[in-house]
Amino acid sequence: MNILITGGCGFIGLKLSKNLLDKGHSVFIMDIQSDLLNKQKKLDKVIFIPGSVTCQAHLINALKDNNIKWLIHLAARLSAPSEEDPWATYEVNVRGIFHALEAARICNVERFIFSSSIASYGLHLPQVIDDETIQRPIGMYGVTKVFGEHLGTFYRRRFGLDFRSIRFPQIIGPGVKTPGVAQCIPMVIEAAAKGEPFEMWIEEESILPVLYYKDGIEALCSLIFTPKEQIKTINYNLSGIKLAARDLVEMIRSIIPNAKISFHPNLNSVEIVKTIPVNLDDSRLRTETGYKPSYDLERSIKDFIHEVRLDKN
Ligand SMILES: NC(=O)c1ccc[n+]([C@@H]2O[C@H](COP(=O)([O-])OP(=O)(O)OC[C@H]3O[C@@H](n4cnc5c(N)ncnc54)[C@H](O)[C@@H]3O)[C@@H](O)[C@H]2O)c1
Repeated sequence: MNILITGGCGFIGLKLSKNLLDKGHSVFIMDIQSDLLNKQKKLDKVIFIPGSVTCQAHLINALKDNNIKWLIHLAARLSAPSEEDPWATYEVNVRGIFHALEAARICNVERFIFSSSIASYGLHLPQVIDDETIQRPIGMYGVTKVFGEHLGTFYRRRFGLDFRSIRFPQIIGPGVKTPGVAQCIPMVIEAAAKGEPFEMWIEEESILPVLYYKDGIEALCSLIFTPKEQIKTINYNLSGIKLAARDLVEMIRSIIPNAKISFHPNLNSVEIVKTIPVNLDDSRLRTETGYKPSYDLERSIKDFIHEVRLDKN
């Protein structure tokens, strides 16, 4: 299968590319940069197409020239840059998904997978959030994710495009470079494993749901490979493990006693983190796609630190 990943040179895209190559697929990436791709020896079979999702022609050319059947749309500006420059985020996250869906329709792409976020929920939430809980995001990033989910669902109904999306919690693992409001969680673990100091921009009391990348990629692949007729819910929650920043720091220090971690909260990030839901019900994703997580918190952190140290040596 020829699969195109937009934004594939980012944290999730590179890990997904490796998984898809291992499964025997031909992987194409469209991104505005390829810095990390060039450093990964295991990804030398990936075909890189320089281009931006803000340009419709770039997408159409990439799909047509390479006979792409499945499109995985990861390209986005994350939460922190979206708060700083919502205008640029409109171009990438809103116009970008419109261009990608439209290119997919024109080029007869069969399947379209979109990476949404639990940051799309926002205010006035019930105790437990299921796939159909109303989304009222307060940040530009969440607003654009709600738009993407609904536009894709429209393309599914109106044009028969096999669209589906997954609302990721905070995915943790080595290699996170883009500073979102919650990305300090994986960044602090990586810094500690490398012996580098790190300053957290959320509060010690901040609580977030986190998921190790190996389970995150497992969930994404379960959704990607589920046959069309089994997809009922379309936009799926993916739950994480509830984690307070203070407890994370304690866990890190139990493995790396001299880790240099401090807190210097950024008020805007703290405000957004407070609206990120923690109790998510992802039973429909599990039932409809067969996804099953394997990593509890302790195993996630230990494996994460082990991977960073392996890479360093
Ligand atoms: N990492 C997480 O915890 C998390 C949580 C929720 C949702 N998501 C979503 O998953 C997706 C991937 O996230 P990530 O963590 O890998 O982010 P990332 O920032 O590491 O990767 C995003 C990639 O998109 C590329 N990009 C930006 N603008 C582009 C454009 N105009 N055209 C083409 N490419 C462009 C960037 O260069 C980057 O390589 C995003 O849609 C994000 O919103 C991630």
